[in-house]
Amino acid sequence: MNKTGIFYSFNTSNSSKVALKIQEVFGKDKIDVIDAEQVTEEQFLKYDNLILSVPTWFDGEMPTYWDEFKPALEDMDLKGKTVAIFGLGDQKSYPENFGDAIGIMAKLVENASAKLVGHSSTEGYTFERSRGVRDGNFVGLMIDVENQNDLTDDRIKNWVSSIKKDFAL
Ligand SMILES: Cc1cc2nc3c(=O)[nH]c(=O)nc-3n(C[C@H](O)[C@H](O)[C@H](O)COP(=O)(O)O)c2cc1C
Repeated sequence: MNKTGIFYSFNTSNSSKVALKIQEVFGKDKIDVIDAEQVTEEQFLKYDNLILSVPTWFDGEMPTYWDEFKPALEDMDLKGKTVAIFGLGDQKSYPENFGDAIGIMAKLVENASAKLVGHSSTEGYTFERSRGVRDGNFVGLMIDVENQNDLTDDRIKNWVSSIKKDFAL
């Protein structure tokens, strides 16, 4: 069976909650959890399927822990791997940078030759601009706990069922 890992910062409150919900919906025994703040190249390469948690910070940037891993990612060959990205963002407070970080990470993993899956509709969100949008869809799953937390569980369920097929689980 393909090995799947979910990478998120164990120090976050919002992203951690979403990551653990995603793991639960997949089935706890099917996915390993890895702390993105301690991640090594070796751990990254161990998995066939990777789910990356990339919240947006600093007005349209990735958090520091992913920025620090960026040089390693730029040198990696992820050919044959399937990657899905989810990100947290606040569409009301940051309408011009909503979820930018998922777009930054998407480019990094695609440049490393990974197959990116898990695009999702922008319907139901209100914002001005996002680097996380390509051809009218988000390049991953966007979760906004500040403004739309009531939609979080359904968004996760729908997203997980769409990427399960791509992950061959
Ligand atoms: C200083 C700061 C900057 C932020 N910048 C953005 C941003 O540019 N775009 C966005 O969509 N959300 C932004 N956010 C909102 C966060 O992404 C959101 O609060 C998220 O839930 C944080 O998740 P985490 O605590 O798991 O890292 C920002 C939040 C803070 C506190």
